[in-house]
Amino acid sequence: MSQDETRNKPIGIFDSGVGGLTVAAEIMRLLPQENIVYFGDVGRAPYGGRSKEIITKFTRQDISFLMEHKVKYIVAACNSASAVALETVRGEFDIGILGVIEPGAEAAVKYTRNGRIGIIGTVATIGSDSYARAIQSRNGLVKVFSLACPLFVPLTEEGYIEKEATLLIAQDYLKTLIDVDIDTLVLGCTHYPLLKKVIGKVMGEKVRLVDSAEETARTVAEALAEKDLLRISGGEASVKFYVSDVPDRFSQVVKQFLGRGINNITRLDITRY
Ligand code: DGL
Repeated sequence: MSQDETRNKPIGIFDSGVGGLTVAAEIMRLLPQENIVYFGDVGRAPYGGRSKEIITKFTRQDISFLMEHKVKYIVAACNSASAVALETVRGEFDIGILGVIEPGAEAAVKYTRNGRIGIIGTVATIGSDSYARAIQSRNGLVKVFSLACPLFVPLTEEGYIEKEATLLIAQDYLKTLIDVDIDTLVLGCTHYPLLKKVIGKVMGEKVRLVDSAEETARTVAEALAEKDLLRISGGEASVKFYVSDVPDRFSQVVKQFLGRGINNITRLDITRY
């Protein structure tokens, strides 16, 4: 296979469902020439309250599916899968796989001035301590304060982005982080970038929010450039979406996460992988 053919192969992105579209949207914005295959495991979402064993099994299947599409690089857009399963699963596949934890941790360490960083995410992500480890391996002096905010996922999917109820829940969840004087907060879940406004309002403007979707897209661009895998040949990029249940709900919420509607969604049986 020529290098140009290799560059034309798609980037594979997976998530437990729709949330990973925040990461896909950033990748598409930064790398509009890239072909993309996106898999959302909507039939088994959410992952964030599940055990390590189950999330690892699902992650392995999600990656196996993408491998079938001859992808050139894989992005685990799901924080829960990245935090809990990637370390175990990565070595099983002969391909570069990037999770969202390392880019988010890297950015947080770069941004903090007072060495006090907050992390919010699902129960699985927070329970894994992956962000804290990734941050402290970069700077052992940084203090990390982690907090699970599980209600943020359903609120976002229900479109409760700027509702009073969401603000009240955010105030209640985040008060412990306000008390510990953090200056940087990692939005460690695919859905949280959509709640930036409300989270920013609660935390105040002195706290910098780290959007791991943005940071991950930047890291993807750097990694592909380094491997000489950026697509440079002409022709419009193809973006394909696959889901593991009827696509109805996915297509309903897609606009919120991706900024536009889509119609090329294919359903598949992920348990075959
Ligand atoms: N995609 C998940 C994450 O980033 C959130 C939704 C879920 O729990 O599956 O952790």
